Order: sequence, then C-alpha cells, then structure tokens
Amino acid sequence: MKDLIWDQSLSVQVQEIDDDHRKLVDLFNILNHAVAEGDAKNYIEAVLEELICCTVWHFRHEERLMLKYGYEGLVEHRTEHQELIDSARALQQKLLRENKTISGENIEFLEYWLTGHILGADMQLGTYLGEEM
Ligand SMILES: [Fe+2]
Repeated sequence: MKDLIWDQSLSVQVQEIDDDHRKLVDLFNILNHAVAEGDAKNYIEAVLEELICCTVWHFRHEERLMLKYGYEGLVEHRTEHQELIDSARALQQKLLRENKTISGENIEFLEYWLTGHILGADMQLGTYLGEEM
C-alpha cells in the first residue's frame, strides 16, 4: 500500500500533537515498507513494537494535556486510547501465536487504527486545546 502522507488534513492545529502524529506516521511508513519488501519477521516485529510503544507514549502526552487544560471529554478519549492499544496488542499476540508476520490486510487495519482516531477524537481535542492553550 501507498505511504501515509501527513498533511494539513491530519493536522489537529496543535503543534506538539501534530509533531507526535508525524512521528507515528513515519513509523507506520517504515512498517509498511518493511512488509512490502518482505523484510525479516523479527525486524517487522521490532517496528510494530516501536509503533505501539510510541503510540502509548503519545497517548500519555495527550492525556496530560487534557488534564492540564480541564478537557471534559477526557474519560471518553482515554477509553478510546486504551481500546486502540488493546487492539494493536491483540494483533501482535495473534501474529506471535500463529507464527505469522504482518499481512497487507493488517497494514490496512493499522492505517485506519492510526488515522481514524486522529480524524475523530483528536480533532475535537485539538479544537478545544486551540482555544485553551
Ligand atoms: Fe488521542
């Protein structure tokens, strides 16, 4: 599949969140290339682990901003974060259990996993923070 391009359509209009999202998009693209080029399974596993860990770190960053600026949607947003991490960990565990590497279908899932949340909950958060920060 094609690379994900970070452009203004993915901007939540908060610089520090956009910076994190760009990094996550870069990691997604590294993973996408690794899968397309048939790189070693343990390398692909390492990239997926890095993507998940960076996402966990980024979610804590957003949650800190929500706390600092008194965001009312914090509980709902945090629940969505937890569900996203759970679904990525479930995919990772399934691949390990079945001794498989990431497929094109998994990549499509991860693309939506990443962009769906940015375009939904994060846009709402960005609008709020843009007014409060
Ligand atoms: Fe978020």
